[in-house]
Amino acid sequence: MSNIIECQDLSYSYNDGKLETSVLKALNLSISPGESIAILGQSGCGKSTLLNLLGGMSQPSAGKVLLNNVDLAQLDEEHTTLLRAEHLGFVYQFHHLLKDFSALDNVAMPLLIRDNDKQSANKQASELLSNIGLQNKLNHRPSELSGGERQRVAIARALITNPSCLLADEPTGNLDAKNAADVLALMVELNQAQNSALVMVTHDQMIAQKMQRVLVLEDGRLNES
Ligand SMILES: Nc1ncnc2c1ncn2[C@@H]1O[C@H](COP(=O)(O)OP(=O)(O)OP(=O)(O)O)[C@@H](O)[C@H]1O
Ligand SMILES: [Mg+2]
Repeated sequence: MSNIIECQDLSYSYNDGKLETSVLKALNLSISPGESIAILGQSGCGKSTLLNLLGGMSQPSAGKVLLNNVDLAQLDEEHTTLLRAEHLGFVYQFHHLLKDFSALDNVAMPLLIRDNDKQSANKQASELLSNIGLQNKLNHRPSELSGGERQRVAIARALITNPSCLLADEPTGNLDAKNAADVLALMVELNQAQNSALVMVTHDQMIAQKMQRVLVLEDGRLNES
């Protein structure tokens, strides 16, 4: 089976003009459909940098990222955006919801961007939010939701397009144990039900153990733990 994401000798350095910081060093990674992977590693080792490269949000210094067998470096920005919208969902550490929009509007947004009509987008968003216990919060803005509720909305927004791969950067990092467990269960459930790959950056060993593969990012490379 072909990989949904593949990194080939992926390197990345930050360069602020004077100082070059080499973060990823010829790293290789293959993610197959339906697979769940935890990425652990010390603060500052490059986990968020790696996730941004997997999602096509930044470009490698050397090596390649293939998304559904397409080399992202070969695409212009518009086509990268389209390919990303087709295949990926992204959940950030802090939810990044649009503060002036309701939960429903936030979740429906990716569908509207993909040219769905508003009525059908709202219907799908409302169903997904109801499935995750937020049927009474559809019209709440992010400021009117708890931290766990906001993160669930953010996950719904990432999943509404049925992405082949969900990239999550410490999605439970700022939640209490109960909400973290709920959010994790939701992602794992959807990973299994939709056979979408799940790549989760986390500091939490308990969460990591719930993934099929646990990788540790160290000295710019990934090692099986
Ligand atoms: N824009 C930038 N310019 C220069 N260096 C940067 C920049 N962004 C990040 N870095 C450095 O790159 C390294 C990797 O950062 P990254 O954010 O990927 O770490 P991380 O593993 O996600 O850490 P954390 O667990 O704290 O979120 C760090 O040493 C960081 O200081
Ligand atoms: Mg990070």
